[in-house]
Amino acid sequence: KLKAVIFDLDGVITDTAEYHYQAWKATATELGIPFTREFNENLKGVSRMDSLKLLLSQAEKPVNYSDEELVQLADRKNKLYVELIETITPADLLPGITEFVADIRSTGLKTGIASASKNAIAVLTRLGVMDHFDVIVDVNKLKNSKPDPEIFLTAAAQLGVEPADCIGVEDAASGVDAIKGAGMFAVAIGNAAHFPHADIVLSSTAELNFRELAQTFEGK
Ligand code: BG6
Ligand code: MG
Repeated sequence: KLKAVIFDLDGVITDTAEYHYQAWKATATELGIPFTREFNENLKGVSRMDSLKLLLSQAEKPVNYSDEELVQLADRKNKLYVELIETITPADLLPGITEFVADIRSTGLKTGIASASKNAIAVLTRLGVMDHFDVIVDVNKLKNSKPDPEIFLTAAAQLGVEPADCIGVEDAASGVDAIKGAGMFAVAIGNAAHFPHADIVLSSTAELNFRELAQTFEGK
């Protein structure tokens, strides 16, 4: 029985996936490292430091950075990202999200946020939707990052529901794998070719329809 819907944030609630891309792209350019949108797919859902290491792996001539230098590079990217999110307003909620979340809640179901971003609270606050979610998982308290299911399992536990009674919504392949690893029903947003493991793929958040989704979930 469907009890909760747990959302990724970046690229699902708002298009901050684009801002992460822009900040990484600028960082890569400064370092003379090639960085494409296609390669950026591998960074979605991945923590800041792991993303940096993936980016550095694309260098034609690999450099051995010290831990301190890695932290500086990650801080540099985050500074660029934080500048970009300062412009966010409630108008930046992705199409259909407000209605979808309202429909879920009006049915008495719970909502949660499972984001790998340390900037999640800042983004949700700027969007004006902090009180639309019953639980926002604190990524600082987690041991494992997506595709490990820990973040989705933690959200379900904090909501007091069984993972099997949850739908997870993601725009990253690593996130879909985390949802499936948690034993939840996975809805992916984006290009179907990126999501072989999702239960449903929608090309945009505008296609999120609570009644249809709940029916599909109950019939699964
Ligand atoms: C995820 C994004 O939500 O958060 C990743 O998909 C990002 O692109 C990760 O790297 C960590 O975000 P932050 O804000 O802590 O650097
Ligand atoms: Mg995402």
